Amino acid sequence: MTSTNRKVIVVTGASRGIGLAYVRHIVFLSKLDFQFDIVMTASKEQPLMAEFDKLLNEINENGLNHRLLPIVADLSENVIESCRKIKEKIIETFESKIDTVLFNAAVLTPLKKVSNMSDDDYKELEKLFSVNLLSVIKLANELIPMMNIIDGKFFFMSSGAALKGMSACTGYCVSKAGLNMFCQTLALENPHLFSLAISPGPVETRMQQFIRNYGHTEMSANDYNYCIMLHQDGKLNNTELLAAKFINACCLLAPREWNGEYLHIKDEKAINLINQYEKKFC
Ligand SMILES: NC(=O)c1ccc[n+]([C@@H]2O[C@H](COP(=O)([O-])OP(=O)(O)OC[C@H]3O[C@@H](n4cnc5c(N)ncnc54)[C@H](OP(=O)(O)O)[C@@H]3O)[C@@H](O)[C@H]2O)c1
Repeated sequence: MTSTNRKVIVVTGASRGIGLAYVRHIVFLSKLDFQFDIVMTASKEQPLMAEFDKLLNEINENGLNHRLLPIVADLSENVIESCRKIKEKIIETFESKIDTVLFNAAVLTPLKKVSNMSDDDYKELEKLFSVNLLSVIKLANELIPMMNIIDGKFFFMSSGAALKGMSACTGYCVSKAGLNMFCQTLALENPHLFSLAISPGPVETRMQQFIRNYGHTEMSANDYNYCIMLHQDGKLNNTELLAAKFINACCLLAPREWNGEYLHIKDEKAINLINQYEKKFC
C-alpha cells in the first residue's frame, strides 16, 4: 500500500445520522481501493465514543486498515478554540494532507416563528448560526492550508430549506442559504480546491423525528403535514444510505466544473452521478 492510497477525511457531526452513515458507508465499501484516516467530530463525548468504539471493533474484525480519530468539539460556542482543537488534533495524528472535509454538523432549533421567539430562543438562534454557518467558515479557514492542493475537496451539507423557506425554521433556512453562498465564495477564492454544497433530501434522522414530535406547535399545517406525509408514505426509508452514496458519488465523480455549485439529490445530474457510482462501486 502506497501512501497515496490513504485518504484523510474529516466529517463534522459524525456521531449519528447522515455523518455517521457516510463514515460507515466508505469504511465498508470494498470496491474502493483506499484506506481512510477518518476524523469524526461531535459535541457530545459519550455517543461519539460509543460509535467510534463500535466502528473500530468492526474495522478490526474485518481486517481493514482504516484509522479513526474522534474529536469532541462543540461548534455552538468558543468556535475559534473548537476549530483550532480540531486542526491541532489532526496535525498531531495524521501525517498527510486532508483530502476531503464534509461540513455536516447542524442543528434545527429554535423551531419557532420569529414573532414567538423569547430571549432564550434568540440565544439558541445564535448557537444555531455558530454551528450551521460561523463554525463552518472558521473551520474552513483553519483547514485550507492543510488541504491536499491537487485534490482537496469541501462538501457542505445544505438542504432544500436553503432555497425554499419552511415556517418556524428561520435560523435553519437562513443558515443553509448562507452555506450555499459560502460555498460559492470559497470556490472563487480557492479555485485549486473543489467546493460543493449538497442537499440530501429528507432523511430519517433525529432532525426529522424532532420535526414530527414538536413541529405542530409552531409550523404551518402545510409544512408540518408534509413532514408527516414523508414518514407515513415510507419516503424516508433507507434515506441515510442513499445520502451516504450521494456524498461519496460527489466526492469521487463530480466534475470540477461544478465547483461552487449547489446540488440537490433529486437534480438530474445528481441522479446520473449516483447511478454511475452504484454501477462502479456498489
Ligand atoms: N435529516 C434531514 O432530513 C436533512 C435534510 C437536509 C439536510 N440535512 C443536513 O444534513 C446534516 C446532518 O443532519 P442529520 O439529519 O444527520 O442530523 P442529526 O442526526 O441531528 O446529526 C447532527 C450531527 O451534528 C452534531 N452536532 C449537533 N450540534 C453540534 C454542535 N454544537 N457542535 C458539534 N457538532 C454538533 C451532532 O452530534 P452532537 O449532538 O453530539 O453534537 C450529530 O453528530 C445537517 O447539516 C442537516 O442540516 C438533513
